[in-house]
Amino acid sequence: MDQSGALDSLLTEERVLRPLPQLVIEANINPQELEAARKFAAMDPLGYWEEAADELDWFKKWDQVLDDKDAPFYRWFAGARCNIVYNALDRHIETANKNRLALIWEGEPGDSRKYTYFELYREVNRFANALRSLGVRKGDRVVIYMPPLPETVIAMLATAKIGAIHSLVFAGFSAKALRQRINDCQAKLLITADGFYRNGQIINLKETADAALVGSCAECVESMVVVRRCNIGTEMTDGRDFHYDDLVRQERNEAPTEVMDAADPLFLLHTSGTTGKPKGIVHSHAGYMVGVHRSLTSVFDIKPTDIFWSTADPGWVTGHSAGIYGPLLAGTTSVMYEGHPNYPQADRLWSIVARYGVTIFYTVPTMVRMLMRFGAQYPKQHDLSSLRLLGSVGEPISPETWIWLYKNIGRSECPVLDTWWQTETGMFMIAPLPISLLKPGSVTKPLPGVEVDVVDREGNSMPPGKGGLLVVTKPWPAMMTGLWNDDDRYKEYWTKIPGVYYAGDVARRDEDGYIWMQGRADDVINIAGHRIGSAEVEAAFAAHPAVCEVAVIGMPDRIKGEAAKAFVVLNDGFEPNDGMIKELKRTVRNELGPVAVVKSVEFRSELPKTRSGKILRRVLKAEDMGHEIGDLTGVDED
Ligand code: WTA
Repeated sequence: MDQSGALDSLLTEERVLRPLPQLVIEANINPQELEAARKFAAMDPLGYWEEAADELDWFKKWDQVLDDKDAPFYRWFAGARCNIVYNALDRHIETANKNRLALIWEGEPGDSRKYTYFELYREVNRFANALRSLGVRKGDRVVIYMPPLPETVIAMLATAKIGAIHSLVFAGFSAKALRQRINDCQAKLLITADGFYRNGQIINLKETADAALVGSCAECVESMVVVRRCNIGTEMTDGRDFHYDDLVRQERNEAPTEVMDAADPLFLLHTSGTTGKPKGIVHSHAGYMVGVHRSLTSVFDIKPTDIFWSTADPGWVTGHSAGIYGPLLAGTTSVMYEGHPNYPQADRLWSIVARYGVTIFYTVPTMVRMLMRFGAQYPKQHDLSSLRLLGSVGEPISPETWIWLYKNIGRSECPVLDTWWQTETGMFMIAPLPISLLKPGSVTKPLPGVEVDVVDREGNSMPPGKGGLLVVTKPWPAMMTGLWNDDDRYKEYWTKIPGVYYAGDVARRDEDGYIWMQGRADDVINIAGHRIGSAEVEAAFAAHPAVCEVAVIGMPDRIKGEAAKAFVVLNDGFEPNDGMIKELKRTVRNELGPVAVVKSVEFRSELPKTRSGKILRRVLKAEDMGHEIGDLTGVDED
């Protein structure tokens, strides 16, 4: 980046940073090529994506790049046959990538494991055979409730290899949340670990998995595979539970890769919406593969020498696209870390970067804010000179946070690439390339082949400088193919503002066409980069008998971006005191898991409502932030 101009005065949003000349010379895509790609994609988007698809291997090529006759159920690469695992693993075994490291994993206690592409390929094959011998077939659902372990990657790839559908559930979710997700997809198999290390403690995961398997959930799940991570003797149910190592020991190193139709589901991943029920986002083999490969390789300028580290847990979409599938499709090496970023102290991440020579570091603003609080002395203790690119995702990054990352981690040389995307989009949508002019705090412009707009509720484009709703105006390959068993809810994405995809985010575009993300437009709270619906947290509160009515809003939090705040009306006979607050917080934690932290609880005698009785979270939020609220007659009546 250009050093001209004092960095200390960078905290204005007008600042533009130019890439260092060396970076432009070395980039896979130079500024002229990016411009040409934009022009080509604008004129012929299908041609652009067809070219992207040609970079991958297919069992049979498509009859049509995009079949839109059943819109909004768009079908990309219709008629094609492929398997993402063929491209992520099998094909590398025939090339110089065979002996390159695919995965470097580090456990919290300091143990580590490395897999070359060949080794990972074999492990995946052995587990694929084990899955087949457990009776898992094409189209069956496999729920993976795992911490970040190599076996998590292996389980995902093995499931996809045999044509089954994986559904990751973040290990911080409760038994109830796990049960809800298993029930929704009627999983046949559950894969978990005995436990994992987090902040110096062993978290017993198998116990929670067992607790989930009751009622109808126990009926659909035929078997459970348990990875021995902590060697804590767990109780195994005879005939249902199997240890991973026992299963793979006898299996062969080769396994056929299932030939999939382009639109066959690869995975489903639940994410929060505005109702209490999480949505099962479905991604398919072909479109997801093409979109993730093209967007990851271009934004992160992937080179054979790279060591790529996305700090996201595999349980979130970032873990899928940027942690596992993207890097493997690109044939690069990725890093995965099991534990807490501050364990045993606040330099753990930097010590990992230094020890493995990480070149690209992709994280969430909440992590950066936390590390900022500990100060720059921690990164200073380590040699971070291997880094060449930094990335951010999950929530708006403020210019201050951006600059801290750029200066203290990136030596004022590594661009911070802020990528906007969602579980639903599968791939990066709005993001710079390393050669782009950057404005700290802006996600810059949509990638070639992606078209977005900032509009009002009627769909009219907003003028520069004015905030509005972010929409995607053309289909893109890695778009979800639907919601699991819920076509109507899927259609809502396309009918809120007819004909375009409604992202649920507020954004503003400046005079240069740069986009600045401003947060959610709906009742979804973004806690430390994790999406959680107000309604889900409210439902968790309602599980406590003292709760008569409750409204949950997101309030600004210095480290987590947002935190949940609840306004509670108690039933008669219950005391609004500190003990009650503790009890309610505990209930939410039990219901949803540690992922849903409620920061504060305020007792009220009543909650503001519309005439039709709907609780006005918006009013509570405005009150809480000390804002004036305008005339409310007729608003939020739906
Ligand atoms: C938010 C994560 C601002 C946004 C990949 C979006 C962002 C939601 C950014 C999706 C960003 C993601 N700047 N906000 N760069 N990236 N978001 O599904 O509100 O877990 O709608 O996917 O995170 O969250 P999800």
